[in-house]
Amino acid sequence: MSYFMGIMSGTSLDGVDVVLADIFPDDTKSSEQSSVNFSFIAAHSYPVPPRLKQKLLALSQERHQNELDSYARLDVQTGMLFAHCCQQLLKTQNTSTAEITAIGSHGQTLRHYPDSDYPTTLQIGDPNIIAQQCGITTIADFRRRDMAAGGQGAPLVPPFHQAIFHSEKKNRVILNIGGIANITFLSAKGHQVTGYDTGPGNGLMDDWCLKHFNCSYDPAGQQAAKGQIHSQLLTQMLNDPYFTQALPKSTGREYFSYQWIIKQLHNTGTDIDPSDVLRTLLELSCISIRNEISLLPEKIEEVLVCGGGVRNLYLMHRLQELLPDSLIASTENYGLHPDWVEACAFAWLAYRTLHGLTGNLPAVTGADREVILGAIWPHHSP
Ligand SMILES: Nc1ncnc2c1ncn2[C@@H]1O[C@H](COP(=O)(O)OP(=O)(O)O)[C@@H](O)[C@H]1O
Ligand SMILES: [Mg+2]
Repeated sequence: MSYFMGIMSGTSLDGVDVVLADIFPDDTKSSEQSSVNFSFIAAHSYPVPPRLKQKLLALSQERHQNELDSYARLDVQTGMLFAHCCQQLLKTQNTSTAEITAIGSHGQTLRHYPDSDYPTTLQIGDPNIIAQQCGITTIADFRRRDMAAGGQGAPLVPPFHQAIFHSEKKNRVILNIGGIANITFLSAKGHQVTGYDTGPGNGLMDDWCLKHFNCSYDPAGQQAAKGQIHSQLLTQMLNDPYFTQALPKSTGREYFSYQWIIKQLHNTGTDIDPSDVLRTLLELSCISIRNEISLLPEKIEEVLVCGGGVRNLYLMHRLQELLPDSLIASTENYGLHPDWVEACAFAWLAYRTLHGLTGNLPAVTGADREVILGAIWPHHSP
């Protein structure tokens, strides 16, 4: 028994996802990447207190005064929230902290600049506080070592997708639809794993809903389903250079933001019904995902979807229409509930780091080598 926890709080800030998993070596397998048994035990999504959520969203999307001061304070508040969430999950599971080997914490992303002159990415949620308050060794800051090795620092989940969802019979894509959407290509015949951000997932739709429909997302895609695609706006949005940028590539909500939509609408120069804009944003996510899947070197039999986008039924329906030769299904039917895939990946990455194993795939992130990701904040028993 070797228990690990994973904490993931994505750019949607819809909740802090915490998982508890049993991760231990599998001596029956030879390949290093998949030589680990992963057994899901429990998970829960904890709400982010509204004031904290508002401050984090503001700091991740807008420029304002005293950013450094806000950053320092929010780093502590978020760390305390993460620690509290871990403690809550353990309580519900009647599991003591002494039974947990380590926590892998992704952190809350405030900035992601992989292509700047000085590439960097910033995730907050002080691991000192998590380790200290929980009394559990904590591993965090996974992305920057990959960047230091010349990578994008993202995506980091593809090797976990490979370990859990690879099939020797079917070519698969694991499609994570969070605020941003990303794909992992898993070839049945052993073609190299690739993975990258395709562009917007739910994020732009969420931003639009908040400003125009007074809700934080479009339940099941019902509002978008009432709108019409505005083809001129769609064409213009698809002309964004990100969609034709060469691999490796990754992006964030500071790029695909509400301001990005406003800029697009300004260029179109017409007064468009809010439902039509929402429908067009949904189409943008679907088409950009479809385009990338169509470019993969092999025909894809199964697209397994995780992340909150699975609940946008209209989006799932539209993806199936756009990819008629692939089965579009939730990862739930393939062993892991779509809500917990990302948090599980960070428990798995914590296992790798703690055991001195590398966690990045250079073919995915563009790093010049495999590296051990993150840093370890040890817990020493008194
Ligand atoms: N019932 C639902 N209908 C439509 N969309 C939903 C529903 N539930 C969640 N979502 C979408 O999923 C998003 C959260 O997805 P998630 O994978 O947690 O993203 P992130 O990794 O960015 O936190 C929400 O912001 C929302 O857009
Ligand atoms: Mg989330």
